[in-house]
Amino acid sequence: MEAKSIILPQDRMPRQWYNILADIKLNPPLGPGGKPIRPEDLAPVFPMNLIEQEVSSDRWIDIPEPVLDVLRIWRPSPLTRASRFEKALGTPARIYFKNESVSPPGSHKPNTAVPQAYYNKVFGIERITTETGAGQWGSALAFACAQFGLACKVFMVRVSFDQKPYRKAMMQTWGATCVPSPSTETKAGRDALARDPDTPGSLGIAISEAVEQAVSDSSGKTRYSLGSVLNHVMLHQTIIGLETREQFKLIGVEPDVVIGCAGGGSNFAGLAFPYLLDKVNGRQIEIYPVEPAACPTMTRAPFVYDHGDTAGYTPLLPMHSLGHTFVPPPIHAGGLRYHGMSPTVSQLIDEGLLTPRAVKQLASYQAGVLFARSEGIIPAPETCNALACVVEEAEKAREEGREKTIVVSFSGHGLLDLGAYEKYLAGQLTDVGMSEEQLAEAMDTVKDYPRPAHLKIR
Ligand SMILES: Cc1ncc(COP(=O)(O)O)c(C=O)c1O
Repeated sequence: MEAKSIILPQDRMPRQWYNILADIKLNPPLGPGGKPIRPEDLAPVFPMNLIEQEVSSDRWIDIPEPVLDVLRIWRPSPLTRASRFEKALGTPARIYFKNESVSPPGSHKPNTAVPQAYYNKVFGIERITTETGAGQWGSALAFACAQFGLACKVFMVRVSFDQKPYRKAMMQTWGATCVPSPSTETKAGRDALARDPDTPGSLGIAISEAVEQAVSDSSGKTRYSLGSVLNHVMLHQTIIGLETREQFKLIGVEPDVVIGCAGGGSNFAGLAFPYLLDKVNGRQIEIYPVEPAACPTMTRAPFVYDHGDTAGYTPLLPMHSLGHTFVPPPIHAGGLRYHGMSPTVSQLIDEGLLTPRAVKQLASYQAGVLFARSEGIIPAPETCNALACVVEEAEKAREEGREKTIVVSFSGHGLLDLGAYEKYLAGQLTDVGMSEEQLAEAMDTVKDYPRPAHLKIR
Protein backbone atom coordinates (compact mmCIF):
# COMPACT_ATOMS: atom_id res chain seq x y z
CA MET A 1 0.00 0.00 0.00
CA GLU A 2 1.31 3.47 -0.91
CA ALA A 3 2.05 5.67 2.12
CA LYS A 4 -0.33 8.58 2.60
CA SER A 5 2.53 11.06 3.03
CA ILE A 6 5.98 10.96 1.50
CA ILE A 7 8.35 12.19 4.17
CA LEU A 8 11.80 13.36 3.17
CA PRO A 9 14.37 12.70 5.92
CA GLN A 10 15.82 15.91 7.36
CA ASP A 11 19.31 15.04 6.20
CA ARG A 12 18.00 15.11 2.60
CA MET A 13 16.55 18.60 2.89
CA PRO A 14 17.89 20.78 0.04
CA ARG A 15 20.94 22.84 1.03
CA GLN A 16 20.78 25.17 -1.97
CA TRP A 17 18.04 27.26 -3.61
CA TYR A 18 17.45 27.22 -7.38
CA ASN A 19 17.84 30.62 -9.03
CA ILE A 20 15.78 30.86 -12.21
CA LEU A 21 17.74 33.95 -13.28
CA ALA A 22 20.47 31.56 -14.41
CA ASP A 23 18.05 30.30 -17.04
CA ILE A 24 15.87 33.23 -18.09
CA LYS A 25 16.38 36.85 -19.06
CA LEU A 26 14.39 39.69 -17.52
CA ASN A 27 13.79 43.28 -18.58
CA PRO A 28 15.62 45.47 -16.03
CA PRO A 29 13.76 47.40 -13.32
CA LEU A 30 13.66 51.10 -14.22
CA GLY A 31 14.27 54.09 -11.97
CA PRO A 32 13.62 57.80 -12.42
CA GLY A 33 13.96 58.95 -16.03
CA GLY A 34 13.47 55.39 -17.26
CA LYS A 35 17.10 54.42 -16.44
CA PRO A 36 17.83 50.83 -15.31
CA ILE A 37 18.17 50.58 -11.55
CA ARG A 38 21.65 49.88 -10.13
CA PRO A 39 22.00 47.62 -7.07
CA GLU A 40 23.23 50.55 -4.93
CA ASP A 41 19.99 52.46 -5.70
CA LEU A 42 18.14 49.87 -3.62
CA ALA A 43 20.47 50.18 -0.59
CA PRO A 44 18.16 52.42 1.50
CA VAL A 45 15.39 49.82 1.16
CA PHE A 46 17.10 46.40 1.43
CA PRO A 47 20.38 45.17 2.96
CA MET A 48 23.13 44.73 0.36
CA ASN A 49 23.45 40.95 0.89
CA LEU A 50 19.81 40.53 -0.23
CA ILE A 51 20.28 42.99 -3.11
CA GLU A 52 23.18 40.81 -4.29
CA GLN A 53 20.85 37.82 -4.28
CA GLU A 54 18.20 39.82 -6.11
CA VAL A 55 20.53 40.39 -9.07
CA SER A 56 22.54 37.16 -8.92
CA SER A 57 22.52 34.82 -11.91
CA ASP A 58 24.22 31.90 -10.10
CA ARG A 59 22.04 28.83 -10.66
CA TRP A 60 22.49 27.40 -7.14
CA ILE A 61 22.78 29.48 -3.98
CA ASP A 62 23.78 27.94 -0.64
CA ILE A 63 21.26 28.14 2.19
CA PRO A 64 23.15 29.42 5.27
CA GLU A 65 23.32 26.99 8.20
CA PRO A 66 21.46 29.30 10.69
CA VAL A 67 18.61 29.50 8.15
CA LEU A 68 18.51 25.71 7.72
CA ASP A 69 18.43 25.43 11.48
CA VAL A 70 15.18 27.43 11.70
CA LEU A 71 13.64 25.83 8.59
CA ARG A 72 14.16 22.44 10.23
CA ILE A 73 11.46 23.35 12.80
CA TRP A 74 8.93 22.21 10.16
CA ARG A 75 10.83 21.20 7.02
CA PRO A 76 10.93 19.10 4.93
CA SER A 77 7.17 19.52 4.66
CA PRO A 78 5.08 16.44 3.77
CA LEU A 79 3.99 15.62 0.23
CA THR A 80 0.64 13.95 0.78
CA ARG A 81 -1.60 11.96 -1.53
CA ALA A 82 -5.11 13.46 -1.37
CA SER A 83 -6.68 10.05 -1.89
CA ARG A 84 -9.89 10.89 -0.04
CA PHE A 85 -10.28 14.12 -2.06
CA GLU A 86 -9.74 12.05 -5.24
CA LYS A 87 -12.47 9.68 -4.13
CA ALA A 88 -14.85 12.55 -3.35
CA LEU A 89 -14.20 13.89 -6.84
CA GLY A 90 -14.57 10.48 -8.49
CA THR A 91 -11.46 11.12 -10.59
CA PRO A 92 -8.83 8.75 -11.97
CA ALA A 93 -6.25 11.54 -11.39
CA ARG A 94 -3.70 11.10 -8.60
CA ILE A 95 -3.62 14.29 -6.55
CA TYR A 96 -0.71 15.19 -4.26
CA PHE A 97 -0.44 18.28 -2.08
CA LYS A 98 2.78 19.76 -0.79
CA ASN A 99 1.71 20.78 2.67
CA GLU A 100 3.18 24.20 3.48
CA SER A 101 0.53 24.78 6.15
CA VAL A 102 2.66 22.91 8.71
CA SER A 103 4.97 25.89 9.36
CA PRO A 104 4.47 27.72 12.70
CA PRO A 105 2.62 30.69 11.08
CA GLY A 106 0.65 28.28 8.88
CA SER A 107 1.82 29.01 5.32
CA HIS A 108 4.72 28.94 2.84
CA LYS A 109 5.69 32.51 3.78
CA PRO A 110 8.36 31.71 6.43
CA ASN A 111 10.44 29.99 3.71
CA THR A 112 11.54 33.50 2.72
CA ALA A 113 10.82 35.36 5.97
CA VAL A 114 13.50 33.32 7.76
CA PRO A 115 16.33 33.98 5.28
CA GLN A 116 15.30 37.63 4.92
CA ALA A 117 15.43 38.14 8.69
CA TYR A 118 18.77 36.32 8.81
CA TYR A 119 20.40 38.42 6.03
CA ASN A 120 19.13 41.65 7.64
CA LYS A 121 20.54 40.57 10.99
CA VAL A 122 24.01 39.76 9.65
CA PHE A 123 24.00 43.10 7.81
CA GLY A 124 23.50 44.88 11.16
CA ILE A 125 19.83 45.86 10.71
CA GLU A 126 17.72 46.09 13.88
CA ARG A 127 14.17 46.69 12.64
CA ILE A 128 12.17 45.52 9.62
CA THR A 129 8.98 47.03 8.19
CA THR A 130 6.59 45.23 5.92
CA GLU A 131 3.02 44.99 4.62
CA THR A 132 0.63 42.08 4.86
CA GLY A 133 -2.59 41.17 3.06
CA ALA A 134 -4.37 38.35 4.81
CA GLY A 135 -1.81 38.38 7.62
CA GLN A 136 0.11 35.26 6.60
CA TRP A 137 3.17 37.20 5.50
CA GLY A 138 3.12 39.56 8.48
CA SER A 139 2.93 36.66 10.92
CA ALA A 140 5.68 34.79 9.05
CA LEU A 141 7.99 37.79 9.29
CA ALA A 142 7.07 38.34 12.95
CA PHE A 143 8.00 34.70 13.64
CA ALA A 144 11.28 35.01 11.69
CA CYS A 145 12.24 38.28 13.40
CA ALA A 146 11.66 36.62 16.78
CA GLN A 147 14.12 33.88 15.77
CA PHE A 148 16.87 36.40 15.02
CA GLY A 149 16.08 39.10 17.62
CA LEU A 150 14.84 41.84 15.24
CA ALA A 151 12.02 44.34 15.76
CA CYS A 152 9.18 44.05 13.23
CA LYS A 153 6.48 46.51 12.14
CA VAL A 154 3.61 45.29 9.95
CA PHE A 155 1.12 47.41 7.96
CA MET A 156 -1.90 45.15 7.51
CA VAL A 157 -4.44 45.84 4.76
CA ARG A 158 -7.49 47.33 6.51
CA VAL A 159 -10.09 44.86 5.24
CA SER A 160 -8.03 41.87 6.42
CA PHE A 161 -7.19 43.60 9.71
CA ASP A 162 -10.95 43.76 10.35
CA GLN A 163 -11.74 40.28 8.94
CA LYS A 164 -8.92 38.39 10.69
CA PRO A 165 -8.26 39.94 14.13
CA TYR A 166 -6.33 36.94 15.46
CA ARG A 167 -3.55 37.38 12.91
CA LYS A 168 -2.66 40.59 14.75
CA ALA A 169 -2.57 38.69 18.07
CA MET A 170 -0.27 36.12 16.45
CA MET A 171 2.14 38.84 15.27
CA GLN A 172 2.09 40.47 18.70
CA THR A 173 2.77 37.12 20.38
CA TRP A 174 5.96 36.89 18.31
CA GLY A 175 6.82 40.44 19.41
CA ALA A 176 5.83 42.45 16.31
CA THR A 177 3.69 45.58 16.02
CA CYS A 178 0.74 45.55 13.61
CA VAL A 179 -1.30 48.55 12.42
CA PRO A 180 -4.13 48.74 9.87
CA SER A 181 -3.28 50.26 6.48
CA PRO A 182 -3.89 52.91 5.30
CA SER A 183 -2.68 54.46 8.55
CA THR A 184 -2.06 58.06 9.51
CA GLU A 185 1.61 57.26 10.28
CA THR A 186 2.86 57.82 6.73
CA LYS A 187 2.27 60.29 3.91
CA ALA A 188 1.25 57.42 1.61
CA GLY A 189 -1.36 56.31 4.16
CA ARG A 190 -2.68 59.81 4.75
CA ASP A 191 -2.96 60.41 0.98
CA ALA A 192 -4.88 57.14 0.52
CA LEU A 193 -7.27 58.11 3.34
CA ALA A 194 -7.76 61.56 1.81
CA ARG A 195 -8.69 59.90 -1.52
CA ASP A 196 -11.15 57.54 0.17
CA PRO A 197 -11.66 57.58 3.96
CA ASP A 198 -13.55 54.26 3.74
CA THR A 199 -11.00 52.43 1.57
CA PRO A 200 -10.60 48.69 2.31
CA GLY A 201 -6.87 49.25 1.67
CA SER A 202 -4.69 47.27 -0.69
CA LEU A 203 -1.32 45.58 -0.72
CA GLY A 204 -0.06 48.40 -2.97
CA ILE A 205 -0.92 51.05 -0.35
CA ALA A 206 0.49 48.98 2.53
CA ILE A 207 3.78 48.46 0.64
CA SER A 208 4.09 52.24 0.15
CA GLU A 209 3.61 52.78 3.89
CA ALA A 210 6.17 50.15 4.89
CA VAL A 211 8.78 51.39 2.36
CA GLU A 212 8.26 55.01 3.42
CA GLN A 213 8.73 54.18 7.08
CA ALA A 214 11.89 52.13 6.43
CA VAL A 215 13.66 54.72 4.27
CA SER A 216 12.74 57.64 6.53
CA ASP A 217 14.38 56.14 9.64
CA SER A 218 17.44 58.36 10.10
CA SER A 219 19.30 55.77 12.22
CA GLY A 220 19.93 53.69 9.08
CA LYS A 221 19.07 50.53 11.06
CA THR A 222 15.65 49.89 9.49
CA ARG A 223 15.01 48.11 6.20
CA TYR A 224 11.92 46.98 4.35
CA SER A 225 11.04 43.38 3.56
CA LEU A 226 8.71 42.13 0.81
CA GLY A 227 6.92 38.79 1.06
CA SER A 228 6.58 38.12 -2.65
CA VAL A 229 7.21 39.52 -6.19
CA LEU A 230 11.00 40.03 -6.01
CA ASN A 231 13.57 37.60 -7.41
CA HIS A 232 15.15 36.75 -4.05
CA VAL A 233 11.72 35.83 -2.65
CA MET A 234 11.05 33.44 -5.56
CA LEU A 235 14.54 32.02 -4.95
CA HIS A 236 13.92 31.25 -1.26
CA GLN A 237 10.60 29.58 -2.04
CA THR A 238 12.16 27.09 -4.46
CA ILE A 239 12.80 24.84 -1.48
CA ILE A 240 9.13 23.79 -1.93
CA GLY A 241 9.63 22.42 -5.44
CA LEU A 242 13.13 21.05 -4.77
CA GLU A 243 11.79 18.98 -1.87
CA THR A 244 8.79 17.91 -3.95
CA ARG A 245 11.10 16.62 -6.70
CA GLU A 246 13.05 14.57 -4.15
CA GLN A 247 9.83 13.21 -2.63
CA PHE A 248 8.44 12.15 -6.01
CA LYS A 249 11.79 10.51 -6.80
CA LEU A 250 11.36 8.36 -3.69
CA ILE A 251 8.18 6.84 -5.19
CA GLY A 252 9.24 6.98 -8.84
CA VAL A 253 6.51 9.40 -9.94
CA GLU A 254 6.70 12.46 -12.25
CA PRO A 255 3.83 14.98 -12.05
CA ASP A 256 1.91 15.85 -15.24
CA VAL A 257 0.28 18.98 -13.82
CA VAL A 258 1.74 21.53 -11.37
CA ILE A 259 -0.64 24.02 -9.72
CA GLY A 260 -0.21 26.89 -7.27
CA CYS A 261 -2.19 30.00 -6.40
CA ALA A 262 -0.43 33.28 -7.12
CA GLY A 263 -0.75 36.64 -5.36
CA GLY A 264 2.67 38.10 -6.08
CA GLY A 265 3.78 34.71 -7.41
CA SER A 266 6.17 33.26 -4.81
CA ASN A 267 4.10 30.30 -3.61
CA PHE A 268 3.47 29.24 -7.19
CA ALA A 269 7.08 29.87 -8.25
CA GLY A 270 8.37 27.94 -5.26
CA LEU A 271 6.71 24.76 -6.43
CA ALA A 272 6.86 25.37 -10.18
CA PHE A 273 10.29 26.86 -10.98
CA PRO A 274 12.20 23.64 -10.24
CA TYR A 275 9.94 21.98 -12.86
CA LEU A 276 10.25 24.66 -15.49
CA LEU A 277 13.37 23.39 -17.22
CA ASP A 278 11.66 19.99 -17.64
CA LYS A 279 9.07 21.77 -19.74
CA VAL A 280 11.64 23.77 -21.68
CA ASN A 281 13.50 20.51 -22.35
CA GLY A 282 10.39 19.03 -23.92
CA ARG A 283 8.73 17.02 -21.14
CA GLN A 284 4.91 17.15 -21.31
CA ILE A 285 3.98 19.06 -18.16
CA GLU A 286 1.27 21.63 -17.60
CA ILE A 287 2.08 24.44 -15.17
CA TYR A 288 -0.83 26.55 -13.90
CA PRO A 289 -0.57 29.66 -11.74
CA VAL A 290 -4.06 30.42 -10.38
CA GLU A 291 -5.58 33.77 -9.42
CA PRO A 292 -9.02 35.02 -8.35
CA ALA A 293 -11.26 36.32 -11.16
CA ALA A 294 -11.74 39.43 -8.98
CA CYS A 295 -8.06 40.38 -9.39
CA PRO A 296 -7.18 39.06 -12.88
CA THR A 297 -3.56 40.19 -13.10
CA MET A 298 -2.18 37.28 -15.12
CA THR A 299 -5.24 36.33 -17.16
CA ARG A 300 -6.44 39.78 -18.25
CA ALA A 301 -3.91 42.50 -17.46
CA PRO A 302 -1.16 43.29 -19.99
CA PHE A 303 2.61 42.83 -19.55
CA VAL A 304 3.76 46.37 -18.78
CA TYR A 305 6.17 48.35 -16.67
CA ASP A 306 4.51 49.39 -13.42
CA HIS A 307 5.25 50.31 -9.83
CA GLY A 308 5.04 47.59 -7.19
CA ASP A 309 3.21 49.95 -4.82
CA THR A 310 0.45 52.53 -4.99
CA ALA A 311 2.43 55.67 -4.16
CA GLY A 312 5.03 54.88 -6.85
CA TYR A 313 7.99 54.60 -4.42
CA THR A 314 9.27 51.36 -5.99
CA PRO A 315 11.10 51.17 -9.33
CA LEU A 316 9.11 50.29 -12.43
CA LEU A 317 9.02 46.49 -12.71
CA PRO A 318 8.24 44.51 -15.88
CA MET A 319 5.09 42.64 -14.91
CA HIS A 320 1.51 41.79 -15.59
CA SER A 321 -0.28 44.58 -13.78
CA LEU A 322 -3.74 45.99 -13.31
CA GLY A 323 -2.23 49.40 -12.60
CA HIS A 324 -0.67 50.45 -9.31
CA THR A 325 -3.68 52.43 -8.08
CA PHE A 326 -6.09 49.52 -8.59
CA VAL A 327 -7.81 48.55 -5.33
CA PRO A 328 -9.12 44.98 -5.75
CA PRO A 329 -12.56 44.15 -4.35
CA PRO A 330 -12.47 42.96 -0.71
CA ILE A 331 -12.53 39.22 -1.43
CA HIS A 332 -11.44 36.98 1.44
CA ALA A 333 -8.33 35.61 -0.30
CA GLY A 334 -6.49 38.73 0.90
CA GLY A 335 -3.07 37.38 -0.08
CA LEU A 336 -4.18 37.32 -3.74
CA ARG A 337 -5.37 40.94 -3.80
CA TYR A 338 -2.28 42.37 -5.49
CA HIS A 339 -2.32 44.52 -8.64
CA GLY A 340 0.93 43.10 -10.06
CA MET A 341 2.78 39.81 -10.53
CA SER A 342 6.42 38.93 -10.03
CA PRO A 343 8.63 39.82 -13.03
CA THR A 344 9.88 36.21 -13.30
CA VAL A 345 6.38 34.69 -13.40
CA SER A 346 5.21 37.48 -15.75
CA GLN A 347 8.15 36.86 -18.10
CA LEU A 348 7.41 33.13 -18.26
CA ILE A 349 3.74 33.82 -19.01
CA ASP A 350 4.83 36.18 -21.78
CA GLU A 351 6.97 33.37 -23.23
CA GLY A 352 4.01 30.98 -23.15
CA LEU A 353 5.67 28.60 -20.67
CA LEU A 354 3.00 29.03 -18.01
CA THR A 355 -0.77 28.96 -18.50
CA PRO A 356 -2.49 31.24 -15.99
CA ARG A 357 -5.99 30.41 -14.79
CA ALA A 358 -8.63 32.46 -12.97
CA VAL A 359 -11.27 31.03 -10.65
CA LYS A 360 -14.36 32.50 -9.09
CA GLN A 361 -14.74 33.01 -5.35
CA LEU A 362 -17.65 30.58 -4.83
CA ALA A 363 -15.94 27.78 -6.79
CA SER A 364 -12.85 28.28 -4.67
CA TYR A 365 -14.74 27.87 -1.38
CA GLN A 366 -16.65 24.90 -2.79
CA ALA A 367 -13.31 23.21 -3.52
CA GLY A 368 -11.93 24.21 -0.10
CA VAL A 369 -14.93 22.80 1.75
CA LEU A 370 -14.78 19.54 -0.22
CA PHE A 371 -11.08 19.29 0.63
CA ALA A 372 -11.77 19.96 4.32
CA ARG A 373 -14.53 17.35 4.43
CA SER A 374 -12.43 14.71 2.68
CA GLU A 375 -8.81 15.34 3.77
CA GLY A 376 -9.63 17.09 7.05
CA ILE A 377 -7.39 20.15 6.71
CA ILE A 378 -9.16 23.49 6.29
CA PRO A 379 -7.34 25.39 3.51
CA ALA A 380 -6.56 29.11 3.53
CA PRO A 381 -8.84 31.09 1.19
CA GLU A 382 -5.83 31.67 -1.12
CA THR A 383 -5.14 27.93 -1.26
CA CYS A 384 -8.81 27.31 -2.12
CA ASN A 385 -8.17 29.08 -5.44
CA ALA A 386 -5.53 26.50 -6.34
CA LEU A 387 -7.82 23.68 -5.19
CA ALA A 388 -10.58 24.94 -7.52
CA CYS A 389 -8.13 24.53 -10.39
CA VAL A 390 -7.26 21.02 -9.12
CA VAL A 391 -10.97 20.20 -9.18
CA GLU A 392 -11.24 21.40 -12.81
CA GLU A 393 -8.21 19.29 -13.79
CA ALA A 394 -9.52 16.25 -11.89
CA GLU A 395 -12.85 16.57 -13.71
CA LYS A 396 -11.03 16.86 -17.03
CA ALA A 397 -9.09 13.69 -16.20
CA ARG A 398 -12.37 11.90 -15.49
CA GLU A 399 -13.85 13.03 -18.82
CA GLU A 400 -10.68 11.96 -20.66
CA GLY A 401 -10.32 8.77 -18.61
CA ARG A 402 -6.67 9.73 -17.87
CA GLU A 403 -4.72 8.77 -14.76
CA LYS A 404 -2.61 11.90 -14.67
CA THR A 405 -0.65 13.04 -11.61
CA ILE A 406 -1.47 16.48 -10.25
CA VAL A 407 0.60 18.26 -7.62
CA VAL A 408 -0.59 21.41 -5.86
CA SER A 409 1.07 23.68 -3.35
CA PHE A 410 -1.11 23.63 -0.26
CA SER A 411 0.09 27.11 0.64
CA GLY A 412 -1.64 27.55 3.99
CA HIS A 413 -4.33 26.52 6.44
CA GLY A 414 -7.44 28.56 7.07
CA LEU A 415 -7.77 28.27 10.82
CA LEU A 416 -7.59 32.04 11.19
CA ASP A 417 -9.88 32.58 8.19
CA LEU A 418 -12.96 30.93 9.62
CA GLY A 419 -14.96 34.15 9.33
CA ALA A 420 -14.75 33.69 5.55
CA TYR A 421 -15.95 30.08 5.81
CA GLU A 422 -18.77 31.17 8.09
CA LYS A 423 -19.93 33.69 5.47
CA TYR A 424 -19.59 31.15 2.65
CA LEU A 425 -21.57 28.52 4.54
CA ALA A 426 -24.28 31.08 5.35
CA GLY A 427 -24.58 31.87 1.61
CA GLN A 428 -23.32 35.42 2.12
CA LEU A 429 -20.42 35.38 -0.36
CA THR A 430 -20.82 36.26 -4.02
CA ASP A 431 -18.74 35.98 -7.16
CA VAL A 432 -16.91 39.20 -7.92
CA GLY A 433 -15.56 39.87 -11.40
CA MET A 434 -14.04 42.79 -13.23
CA SER A 435 -15.73 44.45 -16.22
CA GLU A 436 -13.86 45.60 -19.35
CA GLU A 437 -14.60 49.22 -18.32
CA GLN A 438 -13.08 48.67 -14.85
CA LEU A 439 -10.04 47.07 -16.47
CA ALA A 440 -9.57 49.96 -18.92
CA GLU A 441 -9.93 52.48 -16.11
CA ALA A 442 -7.42 50.61 -13.91
CA MET A 443 -4.89 50.48 -16.75
CA ASP A 444 -5.09 54.23 -17.36
CA THR A 445 -2.36 54.89 -14.77
CA VAL A 446 0.29 53.02 -16.78
CA LYS A 447 -0.61 54.11 -20.29
CA ASP A 448 2.40 56.43 -20.65
CA TYR A 449 4.95 54.06 -19.07
CA PRO A 450 7.58 52.24 -21.18
CA ARG A 451 6.74 48.74 -22.39
CA PRO A 452 8.95 45.72 -21.60
CA ALA A 453 10.57 43.93 -24.54
CA HIS A 454 9.44 40.38 -25.38
CA LEU A 455 12.44 38.23 -24.45
CA LYS A 456 13.03 34.53 -25.00
CA ILE A 457 14.48 31.99 -22.59
CA ARG A 458 18.24 31.63 -22.97
C1 LIG B 1 -1.95 31.04 2.22
C2 LIG B 1 -1.43 31.86 1.10
N1 LIG B 1 -1.27 31.28 -0.11
C3 LIG B 1 -0.82 31.97 -1.16
C4 LIG B 1 -0.54 33.31 -1.06
C5 LIG B 1 -0.04 34.02 -2.27
O1 LIG B 1 1.23 34.42 -2.09
P1 LIG B 1 2.33 34.71 -3.18
O2 LIG B 1 2.61 36.12 -3.05
O3 LIG B 1 3.39 33.84 -2.76
O4 LIG B 1 1.77 34.43 -4.52
C6 LIG B 1 -0.65 33.97 0.18
C7 LIG B 1 -0.30 35.37 0.33
O5 LIG B 1 -0.41 35.97 1.36
C8 LIG B 1 -1.12 33.21 1.29
O6 LIG B 1 -1.27 33.79 2.48
